[in-house]
Amino acid sequence: MAAMEPEALRAAVRRGSLRGPALAALLESLPVFERDAWVERLLGIDTVPLTPHTRHGELIGHHASGVGALLQLLRDVPVRATDVFVDLGSGLGKATLLTHLLTGATVVGLEHEPALVDAARQRATDLGLTGVTYVLGDARASVPEGTVYYLYLPFTGAALEAAMARLEAASRGREVVVCTLGLDLARWPWLRARESSDFWTCIYDREP
Ligand SMILES: C[S@@+](CC[C@H](N)C(=O)[O-])C[C@H]1O[C@@H](n2cnc3c(N)ncnc32)[C@H](O)[C@@H]1O
Repeated sequence: MAAMEPEALRAAVRRGSLRGPALAALLESLPVFERDAWVERLLGIDTVPLTPHTRHGELIGHHASGVGALLQLLRDVPVRATDVFVDLGSGLGKATLLTHLLTGATVVGLEHEPALVDAARQRATDLGLTGVTYVLGDARASVPEGTVYYLYLPFTGAALEAAMARLEAASRGREVVVCTLGLDLARWPWLRARESSDFWTCIYDREP
């Protein structure tokens, strides 16, 4: 099945036969170094639109998460179908689309680049997905409600400070999980770091 054309694979996703355990098994069967290109072709996100206007300084540009790290996070958290998974800086939607397909969780991507939001919405439509929402917005100004938050190094410095204040407010009084790739959040006192199972990912619990 892995060798099928992307459109045939997307038809299988639309029918519901290439989701959850079936998709996870297929991913596990692929050589590790082929997984990312295969997933990006399946999702139709193998070409990144140019986004030259708002990228600057501490706001990091688009770079998609790696499949290996995502699979590990989804297992370690664990993300379930009842979760609302929010990606702060969702780009073309690799993390959100894959999370939704593998777990059935409702997913919300917040992204400040209009071209990336439009493209991610189109990809979700092409795959016939419901429970997938992309919001055009700035994480420094507002953060949607969720149960699991995900950040793949979207920003640093003052932008990170502002977004973390919004995240703190959005999750106050609730048990949520915050997970990151390449971003250490240990200095925020309202987050408790879990023992990490690899150097690249971090998982934190917020208790009410
Ligand atoms: C490293 S990419 C990660 C993309 C996606 N989360 C993934 O894992 O595939 C970071 C994304 O954050 C977005 N971003 C940067 N600053 C932002 C902000 N202040 N608010 C919303 N999105 C932002 C960028 O446009 C970019 O798409």
